[in-house]
Amino acid sequence: MRISPEIQRRAMGQFATGVAVLTVPSPLEEPRGITVNSLTSLSLDPPLLLVAIDLRSPLNRALAESERFALSILRHEQEAISRHFASQPGGILRPGDLEPGPYGLPLVAGALATLVCRRTRSFPGGDHTIFVGELEEAALAPEEAEPLLYFRGRYLALSASAPCPGA
Ligand SMILES: Cc1cc2nc3c(=O)[nH]c(=O)nc-3n(C[C@H](O)[C@H](O)[C@H](O)COP(=O)(O)O)c2cc1C
Repeated sequence: MRISPEIQRRAMGQFATGVAVLTVPSPLEEPRGITVNSLTSLSLDPPLLLVAIDLRSPLNRALAESERFALSILRHEQEAISRHFASQPGGILRPGDLEPGPYGLPLVAGALATLVCRRTRSFPGGDHTIFVGELEEAALAPEEAEPLLYFRGRYLALSASAPCPGA
């Protein structure tokens, strides 16, 4: 029996992730980006990352046509930015939320880390496309900050979670 999308969503909702915004070259006033949690570190040598993007998203075409893309890994105060790039309610983008990066790539200001990738390959993945990028630049936030987490379809901060027993 074929598993339902609802069951898959609920099962995979148990897999807590961070949240990142993927951007393609675009003006800061009209940034083109999408909220993703499919971001995975694929290989260290060469340094590769992958993301899976819905075929229905306008970002799928934009990414296929763009030589480079950026990822901004969000801190927990940046839920509204995640909502904005996921077309969710409460997704207000404020002046100063974004800053210019290399190659005309908008970056989220104050993100935990920003990554610049050259798009290398793509593979069909059902109703998504798997895009692989070679990591060219990585910058970390200068100070410690907490990540924005996504778990069971909700945003969470790390401090709201209990510490691991024995940790
Ligand atoms: C936390 C979170 C993670 C997401 N991860 C992905 C992802 O990895 N790939 C993807 O294609 N869509 C992902 N989405 C959905 C897109 O962000 C969202 O559906 C898309 O931006 C809708 O935009 P549109 O209505 O403007 O096309 C995610 C959404 C959220 C809230």
